[in-house]
Amino acid sequence: MGPASEYFDNGSSFFAVDPQSINPATLADLSLFERHPSKDGLFRFRSLLTDTDAVTVDRLREMLGGWDTVYIHNAEAQDYKAYIKDNIKFILNNDAMSTSKKTSILVNLSTDVIKETFAAPFVPQAKISETVDNLEKFVSQAIDFLSDIESLNGIATMIGHDYDTHTHSVKVGWLCAVFIKANQDLFGNPDRERLKQLLLHATVAGCLHDLGKVKVPENVLNKPGRLNNLEYVLMQSHPALALALLFEKKLPCDTLQSILYHHENEDGSGYPCGLAGDAIPLPAKICHIADVFDALTSARPYKRGKNPVEALKIMAGKNPYLDTLKIFESEAIENARPPVMAIVRNERDPKLRRLRERQMIEEEAEKRVEARVKLRDQGMSHCFDNELLKRFIATLSKSDSFDLSGLL
Ligand SMILES: [Fe+2]
Repeated sequence: MGPASEYFDNGSSFFAVDPQSINPATLADLSLFERHPSKDGLFRFRSLLTDTDAVTVDRLREMLGGWDTVYIHNAEAQDYKAYIKDNIKFILNNDAMSTSKKTSILVNLSTDVIKETFAAPFVPQAKISETVDNLEKFVSQAIDFLSDIESLNGIATMIGHDYDTHTHSVKVGWLCAVFIKANQDLFGNPDRERLKQLLLHATVAGCLHDLGKVKVPENVLNKPGRLNNLEYVLMQSHPALALALLFEKKLPCDTLQSILYHHENEDGSGYPCGLAGDAIPLPAKICHIADVFDALTSARPYKRGKNPVEALKIMAGKNPYLDTLKIFESEAIENARPPVMAIVRNERDPKLRRLRERQMIEEEAEKRVEARVKLRDQGMSHCFDNELLKRFIATLSKSDSFDLSGLL
């Protein structure tokens, strides 16, 4: 049963909606209310439309244009969410709505869609295909807006926030879309249809690149401090785990490649395959740059986010300690147990000996990881295709929201 036509309520049973987000052609069964002050701190919510079928689309458009805010009952929150998801293209194409409003609706919705996909591996198998289908459908509706250079303003408002896997995924997909649209020559200036495919595949890959993290143990994923070597190895399995989860879903090859290779480094020092240079597919290189840029600029419980200039300087900087860094990286992969065992062999009590060994391994690992991160922040240019990185910086600098003067 739908909501009644009138309520006296303190406001907590309703939520406000921008009338411009309502498509007059497809309002369907949502009930819209207006709000008036009433007695005893209550509001009177009065139904604006009892029967939308009885009103013509033009009349409805006119009515919507006359209201600043309308309200929807909480009982219809899920219906409204589904409605907005189905009508996102209308909202993004609505010239009367500001870019910041569009961005906020888009970010909320896309974060929801990605959350559903990331939750899918814990429910029956069929669900993952369904949620990825939803994601593809959603991205396809939003792609013109997402890939437009103007939408960089929207991304800029999201930079520097606390790291969250879902919003990080939205931003990476979004950055890939803007970058590819602005650098089409890298793909041989494709025709409209091919460009749309490229943008869709890269954006979906950006949204799913870290899907495999749902299979990394939670205490590793959410560890507040630095990861030790063993935990680091577990984390490094996430690109392959994502592919395992998406195995049944026949995604396009370039989407899968971006997901699998988004941690490959230009000089071959990345994972999971150690690919180098031209062996790394172009969309994966772009995803890698977008991923690292957003990761460095996001705040973590143990560190503030770097500002875009600091982040890009690290990404473009030559690392003076590259050889040492590479030794650290290879040790982290090959040697999850640092060689401290021999030092504690003299301890007679086996229990104490094991405890001490464990403690030393952890201390050692902690120090090495700490040192590795410090070393990494000295420069990461070996990780990226430098021409692409230059283009990435040039693309961001097209927006006034990113002040990158001095970097170009
Ligand atoms: Fe990743």
